Amino acid sequence: MNSKKIILFASGSGSNFKKICEYFKNDNTVSIELLISNNPKAKALQIAESFNIKTLVIDKQSFYDSDKALINVLKINPSLIVLAGFLWKIPSAFIAKFANKIINIHPALLPKFGGKGMYGMHVHNAVIINKEIESGITIHYVNENYDEGSIIFQKKIKILKSDDSLEISKRILKLEHEFFPIIIQKVLNNG
Ligand code: GAR
Repeated sequence: MNSKKIILFASGSGSNFKKICEYFKNDNTVSIELLISNNPKAKALQIAESFNIKTLVIDKQSFYDSDKALINVLKINPSLIVLAGFLWKIPSAFIAKFANKIINIHPALLPKFGGKGMYGMHVHNAVIINKEIESGITIHYVNENYDEGSIIFQKKIKILKSDDSLEISKRILKLEHEFFPIIIQKVLNNG
């Protein structure tokens, strides 16, 4: 049986990327073909190496002007592209070629606390400042606008009066680790 190919984009600490690698490690129906990162120092790159996954580091110019990443991705022709902590906007040529095949994870309950500049602790700080009583994670399809594609999955947590943004970030990351691989699997099964 041909395995389903996936490509990941990650530029941060790569903890979600690692969980996804671990989840699919012994699954011969899914193969992680490539990790693309815009940060040559991203921990995700070392993690990829430890799982024998190919990597590609892109700079802004090659990403937006020369289609280098797109050419590499097209060669692989993946069933799914997964953004796991990737903050650059995906070029429209990408979106057009892979309509409904790119998904992202966001550490809040979209449509709240999304958009450009809303990532990591910025999100959790805004949640605290707005005195939200709940937050959570959103996994969604990627379209031309930041964080606006249709929602696939959300999971909520209650925010306690004693919570600060650091505490919320830890609980949210734990939820991401628990659910992102499972949802990727579900999307692959439905595709
Ligand atoms: C995750 O919390 C993810 O939701 C967030 O980046 C973090 C990456 O963590 N993404 C965004 O904020 C996108 N707007 P990781 O590198 O440890 O997986």
